[in-house]
Amino acid sequence: MAQAVYNFPRGFLWGSATSSHQVEGGNTNNWTAWEEVPGHIIDRSKSGVACDWWGGRWREDLDRAAEGGQNAHRLSVEWSRIQPAPDRWSEVALDRYLEIFRGLKERGLQPMVTLHHFTNPLWLEERGGWENPVAIQAFEKFTQKVVETFKDYVTTWCTINEPNVYAVEGYVEGVFPPGKHDIQTALRVLANLVRGHSAAYHIIHNLQPEAQVGTAINYRSILPAAGWSPLDRMVANMQSSIYNRVFSGALVDGVMRTPLGNTRLPEARGTQDFIGLNYYTRDYISFDLRYASALFGHRYFRKDAELSKTKYIANEPEGFYEAIRWANSFNLPIIITENGVEDSDDAMRPSYLAQHIHQVWRAINFNFPITGYYHWSLMDNFEWERGWTQRFGLWEVDPETQARRKRPSAAFYGEICQENGLSADMVARYAPKVFARLFPN
Ligand code: GAL
Repeated sequence: MAQAVYNFPRGFLWGSATSSHQVEGGNTNNWTAWEEVPGHIIDRSKSGVACDWWGGRWREDLDRAAEGGQNAHRLSVEWSRIQPAPDRWSEVALDRYLEIFRGLKERGLQPMVTLHHFTNPLWLEERGGWENPVAIQAFEKFTQKVVETFKDYVTTWCTINEPNVYAVEGYVEGVFPPGKHDIQTALRVLANLVRGHSAAYHIIHNLQPEAQVGTAINYRSILPAAGWSPLDRMVANMQSSIYNRVFSGALVDGVMRTPLGNTRLPEARGTQDFIGLNYYTRDYISFDLRYASALFGHRYFRKDAELSKTKYIANEPEGFYEAIRWANSFNLPIIITENGVEDSDDAMRPSYLAQHIHQVWRAINFNFPITGYYHWSLMDNFEWERGWTQRFGLWEVDPETQARRKRPSAAFYGEICQENGLSADMVARYAPKVFARLFPN
């Protein structure tokens, strides 16, 4: 057997990612309101107590992360908790987060904090959420409070998680609140998110010059089903640039380019210090007149691709490499802010993990400046409109009893983090299916 190790650079950040609404429990925000309406969450579940982090279980779960050799953690702070009304800050919530940040430090977990991870306070949602430009100043004010309060503990900030997903799911697909189907509104929301991000970027740097500020973009690899077909290539390019590029492109030169026209947003120019990359899967696309509402693109997974439990994710590690190459085109440090797969049986996760981490190694060896990898997720948690039907955790959580169970992938990831590398021996033990591919003779 080959005895090779894919080693990572010294100081590489190994972590996992979570978000407030998905793990804390006991929230009151636009999502909890959305969850009340039958039909919104596919298994009719609610976030409820989630993983009970607000009840104190963050301690035991972060112990699990630290014991598993992780040295970093990405989490979000819940706007609706910290600012329950436009003119009120909750000292209780701020203190609780301070306790969590101290807890991270004690455990040797370097924090990365997301300011907006899909949820809005109800008082903002009632005024139209991000459709209304009042969201921009409100977010700026919230950011100021958060950074002033936590700046002794946090220097890496992710302003907005997956603005592209937020706009598409909430305003085109209609499966996130507010459940609209209107491309123009989606683009207006995206422009306001660019403005909100820019305002946050500047205020963070005013308060904390050494801060590292970015976003987390969900990059979806979209390939033409038939490479020779100009029509397939056209829809692939169009969808890929709309989905992957509209928001991030604006942060480069201050112009948001969309099929419906360009918007100048000069305040956004140069407002990222790193590229946060979330990658899960790759689609193939063909031109098809029956899919007018999807801009004539019919998207599907490769026929022989290995699919996750609920067929939500195809295991496409090469798509990850493409995503990293795309991220590298910004000439900034890259952080893998999310990557993972839903798999309650842990049947596919070990090989997914091995193959995707191998791609990170490959990219680093081509001198792509990747500084960290955050697995989604540490624990099973509330998966938005998919409720509890999908399990992304290294650790299994029973939301009824709050019992935790360690999946083999948690042990595998633990060894990777501790070794700061992926070894042939680990792959032979945890992901033998892909051994020959990763360590060919
Ligand atoms: C991302 C999102 C996470 C998590 C993950 C898995 O789009 O940022 O919150 O839900 O997908 O579905």
